[in-house]
Amino acid sequence: MIYFDNAATGGAKPDSVICGASAAMRACANPGRSGHMLSLACAERVYGVRKILQQFFGAPSAERVIFTKNCTEALNIAVLGCLGAGDKIVSTVAEHNSVLRPLRHLSECGASVRYAPLDRAGNIDLKAMAALIDADTSAVVITLASNVTGIAPDICAVKRMMPPGALLICDGAQACGHENIDMTAMGIDALAVAGHKGMCGIQGSGALVMSQRLCPSPVMFGGTGSESYNLSMPDFYPDALEAGTLNYPAIISLGEGALYLKTRMYENRDRLVYLTDLVINGLHEMPFVRLYSRTNVFGIVAFDVDGVPSEEVAGRLSAEHGICVRGGLHCAPLMHGALGTSGLVRVSLSPFNTEREAEYFLKAMAEMFG
Ligand code: ALA
Repeated sequence: MIYFDNAATGGAKPDSVICGASAAMRACANPGRSGHMLSLACAERVYGVRKILQQFFGAPSAERVIFTKNCTEALNIAVLGCLGAGDKIVSTVAEHNSVLRPLRHLSECGASVRYAPLDRAGNIDLKAMAALIDADTSAVVITLASNVTGIAPDICAVKRMMPPGALLICDGAQACGHENIDMTAMGIDALAVAGHKGMCGIQGSGALVMSQRLCPSPVMFGGTGSESYNLSMPDFYPDALEAGTLNYPAIISLGEGALYLKTRMYENRDRLVYLTDLVINGLHEMPFVRLYSRTNVFGIVAFDVDGVPSEEVAGRLSAEHGICVRGGLHCAPLMHGALGTSGLVRVSLSPFNTEREAEYFLKAMAEMFG
């Protein structure tokens, strides 16, 4: 089997991540709930991972690293916990449903939401975006990299367009772990992190990393192990936003993933660019293929095949050659609308993929559709 669906969830993991998660499952208590030694040791390790992520993403403090079960939950906390009726929000057509659906909910509650289009080259049209932003804009909610094509906006340019009081909320699902993100230097207020993709952690790991200016209200309520006499959520972070038992093994895996990337991210990135180029150049030679991606550091290559629905291409790659890719809409309906497609085939690579796998895929494509 060849796994080329790493944008949906990372396939191969570093050994340190697998060993860390399995050791955490072998000695697992509920961190922050009990006073016995194992619970205290787990709580200390969880705090250690907060510190690792704080440093990894340039966040102001470890307390502003909120653990979530995935990137979607992090985006929901940032969007629904900070914005409401009367707010003016600017977003883009490149967003995933993890942004589009909370924003649709807010617009049904009386917020105004406007979406920047793509330009002719398939990038987010920053000029059009600037025209949507005004002095009353409350927030910009934007992806750091499209999960469909791998295009990435210039976030510093977006920040410069925004009024000083507006919040910059970023979906880092596809970007985190692939490029250096220093949220303080970039002026990002909310960074939603998927733990199980580029960050190399396991499923069930994610985080919302917050600037000092981002103060979301809880969107979920429950036990925190702190202020148990209080029928309201604690008013301090991270507790205010972490109701219920944390996913301890997943958090440990995310910490191990970040430590691995600290020494490997740039090397991995070069390898990913090389493999992505190989696939793009090979597909470029096939007259029956239309490409929607350019070389990118996220390992994403989107394309379609003349006259063949994307799900059929993906289905045949899997059934006839054991190659796993994703067809369809990738939960990003406005992006497909903007590209004028009703579905694409997406190859998403990881630094663990090999040149031989890329070549086998290209041979399979030529054999099946050439
Ligand atoms: N958002 C993930 C993807 O793009 C699941 O496949």
